Amino acid sequence: MLRNGSPPRVILGIGGGIAAYKSAELARILIQRGYKVQPVMTAAAMQFITPLTLSTLTHAKVITHLFSERGDANAILSSAVEHIDVALENDLLLVAPATANLLAQFAHGLAGDFLTTMHLAFTGPVLLAPAMNTNMWNHAATQANLRLLRERGYHVVGPDAGDLACGMVGAGRLAEPLEIADAATALLDGQNDLAGETILITAGPTQEAIDPVRVITNRSSGKMGYALAANAAQRGAKVILVSGPVALAAPAQVEMVRVESAEQMKNAVLHRLPEASVFIGVAAVADYRPANPADQKMKKTASRLSIELEPTADILAEVGRLKGDRIVIGFAAETQNLIAEASRKLNAKNCDMVVANLVGGNGTGFEGDENEVLLVTRDAEPQAVSRAAKSVVAAKILDRIPGLRLAAHAEAR
Ligand code: PMT
Repeated sequence: MLRNGSPPRVILGIGGGIAAYKSAELARILIQRGYKVQPVMTAAAMQFITPLTLSTLTHAKVITHLFSERGDANAILSSAVEHIDVALENDLLLVAPATANLLAQFAHGLAGDFLTTMHLAFTGPVLLAPAMNTNMWNHAATQANLRLLRERGYHVVGPDAGDLACGMVGAGRLAEPLEIADAATALLDGQNDLAGETILITAGPTQEAIDPVRVITNRSSGKMGYALAANAAQRGAKVILVSGPVALAAPAQVEMVRVESAEQMKNAVLHRLPEASVFIGVAAVADYRPANPADQKMKKTASRLSIELEPTADILAEVGRLKGDRIVIGFAAETQNLIAEASRKLNAKNCDMVVANLVGGNGTGFEGDENEVLLVTRDAEPQAVSRAAKSVVAAKILDRIPGLRLAAHAEAR
């Protein structure tokens, strides 16, 4: 299988457990499928299987240390960024076996060796194949770590139940290498399902100037829009992200257009719209702005101050007017009448789908790391996406694009 002319690239992280020996068989299957495999072994993994086995099977240098142990200065210089290079160059991080210790380190962002450090720099999909003793697997700490990782969008295959090397019988046996390889293939194939799409996304708040130092803004952190941009880019789409002022790093492989006000956001969107096959309006755009912003900092004079506001342009409605055969997805942030309001916006702004987002107090919607939404369309019952990390919710929203396109074509006929 080839993607854009080059084989998919998989980092095979190997943790220190007896099941590490099965990583050799897994590496062999991945290589047979035409993948480029970069083995990374922890110090404990090398107690169970040698790097030579993995390098022979994958024809790759096996990475075992965070810093080069050779003495020459150039080697040290190159190894200092190797964990970043490896993170950027690969499509999938597959960890088999994922030990209890690795799950804990991943869940809590520890970076004590090459695998855990590189994991923090890796922005693509992560597939974990846990393997450990049954009691360790059932321990509340392990299960809590796993829950956290799943909420963040990590994929997990296995473990199976059965006879374990420690003599116990129960859950904790590494999934079969073929099953792990199939899960990896499913992720790598699915990963490219948005290739050919150009997705224009707005995210974050806007800031509307009162005077040179004061603004009217809102609580949007940009997290939902950035999660959509990151997931779409991982799945092969060209992504243009028009972002209001937020404190987030640009997602990998995403073209950023930074703006402040609703007017700037509208101009940036209309400028890039002709390229877009999909538009997603996630931004919390100010509906009003000060009609006469002061040129100089306003002085405190009266006990009360009134600021006259005028409406901003509705960007999503404008995109809806220029829709053509583009897929248009809006959001609706509501504190009540969620479905009714989302349906009204769906029609008023000529969208294919509105993501209805209950906001105001339950930790979802604005600012938090999680969200919970309803996907509202014209011809189907609203589909609930239950509470999960914004990255998981983003993936579920993007999953709907092929279906929306089919529905739009059917309607046009
Ligand atoms: O950024 P986060 O902290 O992660 O929070 C995510 C979110 C809550 C901001 C997001 O999930 C969300 O609900 N975004 C929509 C916010 C909003 O302004 O909703 P609205 O119901 O007021 O607007 C409806 C739609 O019209 C939205 O797609 C909005 O982008 C668009 N709009 C609104 C006003 C305007 N002048 N121009 C617009 O394009």
